[in-house]
Formats: sequence, structure tokens, C-alpha cells
Amino acid sequence: MRSILFYLLILGSFKYAVTEEGFCSAPTVVGMEVNSNPLYLKVDNPTLSPVHLQDLPGFTRSVYKRDHALISPESHVYGPLPDWTDTSGAYLIAPEMGSHFVMYLAKLQENSKSRQPLHDVERFIFVLQGTITLTIDPCRRHILKVDSYAYIPPKYDHFIECDASATIVVFERRYVPLQNHAPEPVVNSTYKQSLIETPGEIFELRKLLPTSLAYDFNIHIMDFQPGEFLNVKEVHYNQHGLLLLEGQGIYRLGDNWYPVQAGDVIWMAPFVPQWYAALGKTRSRYLLYKDVNRNPL
Ligand SMILES: *[C@@H]1O[C@H](CO)[C@@H](O)[C@H](O)[C@H]1NC(C)=O
Repeated sequence: MRSILFYLLILGSFKYAVTEEGFCSAPTVVGMEVNSNPLYLKVDNPTLSPVHLQDLPGFTRSVYKRDHALISPESHVYGPLPDWTDTSGAYLIAPEMGSHFVMYLAKLQENSKSRQPLHDVERFIFVLQGTITLTIDPCRRHILKVDSYAYIPPKYDHFIECDASATIVVFERRYVPLQNHAPEPVVNSTYKQSLIETPGEIFELRKLLPTSLAYDFNIHIMDFQPGEFLNVKEVHYNQHGLLLLEGQGIYRLGDNWYPVQAGDVIWMAPFVPQWYAALGKTRSRYLLYKDVNRNPL
């Protein structure tokens, strides 16, 4: 059944293949077929609070402090996204908190379409549920499934659409240019990225963007088995936006120790002491924004 749907999807996409420019090749399909439990199920269907507290009025695990925030799913507030058509979204991290980027969840449906970000803004998207189509130039179309992602440099014409329903996480910031370096679009999947050495650490690390100087941030995917934890109690100038994709554990932020689970979002300001330990019975996986390659001065 899934493969039939898949072929219909491919067939359906040919109707867009003819443009003013003539024939384009079929869009590339990025992502793997999901057979059993969908990946990242808990992000879209979160456990709203501990069972015994679910109907306690006013209860939330969300916290907002000067140098960090935990925004758990029962606090996510959706509304029409200002720069998109027919798309509902929840801004979870924004410059009002002190960040230099925005991080939001976007829920797309049949008529949803993204518009161009402000002229110097770069955009990163990661698919959490469903399938989206990304068009960069009329002839570069990509069908992105769960676990696939794309980076679009500033000033690149592109739009994101959806045939049925999809949930994505989006990061946007004003690009910090560097002479003689220009970032290129990136479209790929997490599972295709190889593990990167992490001396002294036990977690598994993948970087979704090239590490070259053209890119002023990267997105890390970090995996911990239950019981594993960060060795370094990190304090650094970089800022982070984190989405816990799978699992549960304890996040330390400053002098606070927070139980966290899939679906939770964390904002970490520069220099907030940070540490994670994975608990439970399943792997923890999180997605992490980090600004890189630019002198903080
Ligand atoms: C996706 O990433 C892998 C590993 O980095 C790379 O070998 C491959 O060329 C990339 N695919 C595309 C379409 O860029």
C-alpha cells in the first residue's frame, strides 16, 4: 500500500515537470521508506505532561529564564505564519529572548506554501512528519521525507509546498557574510551522514551542513543510548536551539535540572552551563542549532 502511494506521489509530481523553460528531469526523492513506527512520532504526537499531572490545571514543564528556556509541547501556540500562505506555525525561539535566530515548527497542508525570507536571511528546514516538495529554481525540485533536510542560502529563490500534511522545523537567521566564501544550497538526509569523531565523548554526532567557512551555523544530530551523558559540562559563546526528537533524559541548564522528553524545545543563550544525560529505555536523539565559523567580536 505504501509503495503504491509512493508511486502515485512520483506520478503526480510529473504534472509540475513542464515549466516555461521546457522539460525538467523528475524531482529527486530524498529520504527513506518508513515501514514500522514512523521516525520522530513523538514530536508530532507528544506526551503533553506526566500522566498523573495531565489534568492538573495550569501545570506546565515550560520555563523561561534570562539564559535559557524549556518550551514543552503543552505550551506551543500555533497561529498563521506571517511569511507563509495557509501555514500554521509556532515560533519557539526568537530574538525577543536574546537569540540571533528564529526556530519554529510549521504545519503544512494542501495549500500551504512558503514565501521568500527577507533578503539576507538563510533558511534551514528539517522534515518531522509527512512529505514536502522544495523547489529551488524551476528545474530543481526535491521531494523531502521524514529525516531529510535542506539549507537555502540568502537570496535563493525557492518555495516549499505540501500535497497532504507535513510538519517541519525551520531555522532562520541573517547570514553573516565572509569575503570570498558563498554557501550553496544543501538537500540531503540524516541517515546518509557519517558519524564524526567526538574525542572524550560517547554520544554519536552527525553534522547536517558542510563544515566549510561559507556556513555560519551548523545543525548537529546527537544520539545517546540510555545511561550515556555528556562528558564536558559545556560553557561556550555559541548559542543553541534544540529539539528533542526521540527519547527522554535530564537536561542541566545553569543550576536547573530538567526532565525532558521528545517534543521538547530548549533555548540556550551563550555561556549557560549545559549538560545532558539520557534515561529511559530508548535512544535519545536531538537536533541542535549552533553558530560556527564567525569571530564573536
Ligand atoms: C548527501 O550526503 C552524503 C554524505 O555527506 C554525500 O556523499 C552525498 O553526495 C550527499 N547527497 C547530495 C545529493 O548532495
